[in-house]
Amino acid sequence: MPIDYQAAREDLVRSLRAEIREERLLAAFAQVPRERFVPPELQRYAYDDRPLPIGHGQTISQPLMVAIMTQALELRGDEKVLEVGTGSGYQAALLSLLAREVVSVERIAELAEAAARRLQELGYANVRVFVAGTGLGWPQEAPYDAITVTAGAPDVPTSLVDQLAMGGRMVVPVGGRRLQQLVRVTRSERGVTMERLGECRFVPLIAPEEGWPEWEASDNGAAPWP
Ligand SMILES: C[S@@+](CC[C@H](N)C(=O)[O-])C[C@H]1O[C@@H](n2cnc3c(N)ncnc32)[C@H](O)[C@@H]1O
Repeated sequence: MPIDYQAAREDLVRSLRAEIREERLLAAFAQVPRERFVPPELQRYAYDDRPLPIGHGQTISQPLMVAIMTQALELRGDEKVLEVGTGSGYQAALLSLLAREVVSVERIAELAEAAARRLQELGYANVRVFVAGTGLGWPQEAPYDAITVTAGAPDVPTSLVDQLAMGGRMVVPVGGRRLQQLVRVTRSERGVTMERLGECRFVPLIAPEEGWPEWEASDNGAAPWP
């Protein structure tokens, strides 16, 4: 029997309601077809609230975690948002419904190209995907009103704080290679404030200066499957 993805999506949104209050965000989850962002052989698990492998040792993040991170950005609709770690493009699709413009960078060119194609096919026209350079983020288009970092950094990356607009918010997993704290960073004229939002588990942010070294990239803590 064919899977009723629409019903599965509605079930997921119902379960997210236990933790997420923002109606615009829930409406975005009700709209984006997560099954189109996972490999065909895993499509039947697309609405399980868990990360799934997307190839190259990387993952599409757990929906609840994506929701918590996105809610913490407090988007109202007119923001320019940077995502570091495009992966499948799923979170970029959600962000595109919640903000004016999304710039998303991914270090693995094959993932970036596949995500860009997918986002274009699905009509998410206000997202642009770039292959990451040697530095973090995409400074040539800064400042951003909000930044989401979807891979774990050893510390809050200063170069990304520098890409935040005044009043801008960034969410970033910070800690060890396998277990991190989700941190919200807010930049204001008075300086930078940081709040811990809870424990999380992300693949490592790979970068020469403010990330983890590439040679350890295969040991990335990605969710094992099955
Ligand atoms: C958990 S996955 C992203 C999930 C993604 N947001 C989604 O919705 O599918 C983390 C991604 O960050 C990427 N990444 C790691 N280090 C990076 C860096 N320095 N710059 C850009 N992307 C990076 C990984 O290749 C991986 O695709």
